[in-house]
Amino acid sequence: MSEITIRRPDDWHVHLRDGAMLAAAAPFTARRFGRAMVMPNLDPPVTTAKAARAYRERILAVAGPGFDPLMTCFLTDETDADEVVLGFAEGVFAAVKLYPAHATTNSAAGVTDIGRAYDLFERMADIGMPLLVHGEVTDGDVFDREAAFIERVLAPLLERFPTLKVVFEHITTEDAVDFVREAGGRLGATITAHHLLLNRSSMFEGGIRPHRYCLPVAKRERHRLALRRAAVAAEPPFFLGTDSAPHAVSEKESACGCAGIFSAPAALELYTQVFDEEGALDRLEDFASINGARFYGLPVNEDTVTLVRDGAAVPEEVPIDGGERVRPFMAGRTLPWRLGPGDD
Ligand code: NCD
Ligand code: ZN
Repeated sequence: MSEITIRRPDDWHVHLRDGAMLAAAAPFTARRFGRAMVMPNLDPPVTTAKAARAYRERILAVAGPGFDPLMTCFLTDETDADEVVLGFAEGVFAAVKLYPAHATTNSAAGVTDIGRAYDLFERMADIGMPLLVHGEVTDGDVFDREAAFIERVLAPLLERFPTLKVVFEHITTEDAVDFVREAGGRLGATITAHHLLLNRSSMFEGGIRPHRYCLPVAKRERHRLALRRAAVAAEPPFFLGTDSAPHAVSEKESACGCAGIFSAPAALELYTQVFDEEGALDRLEDFASINGARFYGLPVNEDTVTLVRDGAAVPEEVPIDGGERVRPFMAGRTLPWRLGPGDD
């Protein structure tokens, strides 16, 4: 197969940032994806419907036509349940995002005491509003934090709220794959392109590779292979979420480099590569364009996107207005697949 046309996919987990970075990053996502679940970890985070509405307008102003950003509410210990429920009813908020405080970039305002959100979770379950979780605890070995989260936070949460819809974001372990499979429908999971391609050794290939560092951090090879199996089988609870998370080069190549991989310029091409490598191109559309929409109870996109097997180079860097630069995942590499004419 030298080209493939699929229903336009959606990106169910992306960081678009704000200001000059938003202007540089958003068009890459908008060119490939119909909708995107936009993460709220700005500084300050998006915690009100008013802020989400204004942020959505700023995205639309730079994204180009036909793109539908879905907004999320950053959960804090102080979140007002009425604000969230009203924002969902008005169609401003699509979901709530739970970051354990200090788990990752711009999450200092996150949750320290999950019990304070129990009333909100009850109401979200009633109205069918999904809870998206950054699934890591904030203590213990960094490679074990996702597995610990399942046991200490996620399993008890699902038990306490049996009808709450939850998305386990950017899963990185076989433990998570197994847990999602067994949860039976109301628990979904996003899988990034980079976690299908990297294991923890990749971060140290020939030296330290800051542009391969993200959270949750890549794990052992056996975990990468488990993620690949779940994705390419296009099992219903697993769907595409890039977790594209741009940081300026100066913030990545630093004595204390930020977590986040900017995959938006190549993510769809890389997912296509993975499905091709696994002989599963016929299931790419399910994973990329159908499973997520089904999980969220939204219609699938009606237009299509074409990918062509015809090497294309990922840019070395993307300039940001003001003089900074951001380096994409796989910068400078020639990838086997590129966006087709009309889509590029
Ligand atoms: C994300 C970011 O930079 O906002 N970083 C990352 O490594 N993925 C936050 C997140 O999703 O954890
Ligand atoms: Zn993220």
